[in-house]
Amino acid sequence: MKLGKEGNMVNQEQNQQKEEFEPKIVAFLCNWCSYAGADLAGIGRYQYPPNIRVIRVPCSGRVDPLYILKALQNGADGVLVSGCHPGDCHYLEGNYFARRKFAVLKNLLEYLGLEEGRVQFSWVSAAEGERFSQVIKEVTDSVKKLGPAKKMIKSLDIPEDILNLLTREDEKTGLASSMEHTMQDNKGKK
Ligand code: FES
Repeated sequence: MKLGKEGNMVNQEQNQQKEEFEPKIVAFLCNWCSYAGADLAGIGRYQYPPNIRVIRVPCSGRVDPLYILKALQNGADGVLVSGCHPGDCHYLEGNYFARRKFAVLKNLLEYLGLEEGRVQFSWVSAAEGERFSQVIKEVTDSVKKLGPAKKMIKSLDIPEDILNLLTREDEKTGLASSMEHTMQDNKGKK
């Protein structure tokens, strides 16, 4: 398809706007791996874009999909959830439950019309400072390409049974109570 002069100018303007756009990305980082990976990136002086707002969580399995929806609803242009590599979870299986929940969430977000790439998941260990900076660069680039989020979720009612499906995993596994016990144990050791 050929575009006229005006069409080209509009495209150029849109591309320029996307390049200038600095997305806000909420990053939920597992305390035991990815958060330590972020620290290591700082110590190793691996640079990454300053677009992320970090929220430290005890485990990726503790990230309720509703947190992700809320972040997007409240103006985030992208969300990253990062935890320990499969098999390395401090709570043994938290990241497996996270993986399952996010697979369901991904389908829901597609159904809601959210572009692929706004919400991303990745595994980064405490020893991977360089990888952490690489992940942040990639996530920031892909959200930049998408442009500002249109907050479309705000106008949609998510059916109760879908919300229940997303949040039921924690109750089934008792992950929350296992984390509480570990935290209490850790407090006792101090
Ligand atoms: Fe890191 Fe579970 S403790 S993902």
